[in-house]
Amino acid sequence: MPKRLSRAFDFIALCLMASTAWFFAGCAFAVEVVGSSTQAKGRVLVAFSTSKGSTGEVAETIASEIRSAGWEAEAVNLNDVHLPEEFNHVILGGPVYYGKIREIKAFVEKYEEALRDRLTGAFAVGMAFAVDDEEQIAAGRKALDDSTAPLRPAHLGYFAGRIDPGKLSLLEKAAIKMVKSPVGDFRDWEETRAWAREVVKSLDQ
Ligand SMILES: Cc1cc2nc3c(=O)[nH]c(=O)nc-3n(C[C@H](O)[C@H](O)[C@H](O)COP(=O)(O)O)c2cc1C
Repeated sequence: MPKRLSRAFDFIALCLMASTAWFFAGCAFAVEVVGSSTQAKGRVLVAFSTSKGSTGEVAETIASEIRSAGWEAEAVNLNDVHLPEEFNHVILGGPVYYGKIREIKAFVEKYEEALRDRLTGAFAVGMAFAVDDEEQIAAGRKALDDSTAPLRPAHLGYFAGRIDPGKLSLLEKAAIKMVKSPVGDFRDWEETRAWAREVVKSLDQ
């Protein structure tokens, strides 16, 4: 091969090697940057119970707000939670029915040990919080306290709920009529998000 041609090949080979090295260096940098920006602060479980769906949407809103603050957060139905110890923090929420939040109570009894250091917050959803009646509000608050006892989460949320007559049985309709409960969707999404931001502030400390 003529010497000139061989030098030209050497030059091309050198250029190729240099550009390959730059390419891989660039990829490594990109992986580093992407990796660090998606690194969550920790895992938060928002576990909820629901009968007609409204509490699930409140839980989703709370989880979404927590994610916005850089945490990994998911809203999961209590029935699908088997290992709360896989999370750094747990928030429990449930609807009040006939003065009680039974599913939360059962969940706390079952996982008390795991929840002791993890239960950061709990919330109740009910129509008691949609009316201006101290007695009813106190009963709704008591339902949440009773369901989380003996644990005492630092943050407690009380949210007005939703009654959709189309989703009620005849018996439920009669019960609602008897207690003169308001009917409709009284959920306040800004109030829900503000509560989630309060909780997340304490997680960041
Ligand atoms: C039969 C029935 C009983 C209820 N009992 C109460 C109650 O004792 N206290 C309360 O605050 N809300 C009560 N509610 C309102 C629910 O807590 C509210 O509709 C809630 O948003 C339902 O949540 P879910 O859609 O997740 O099931 C009752 C609703 C129904 C239909």
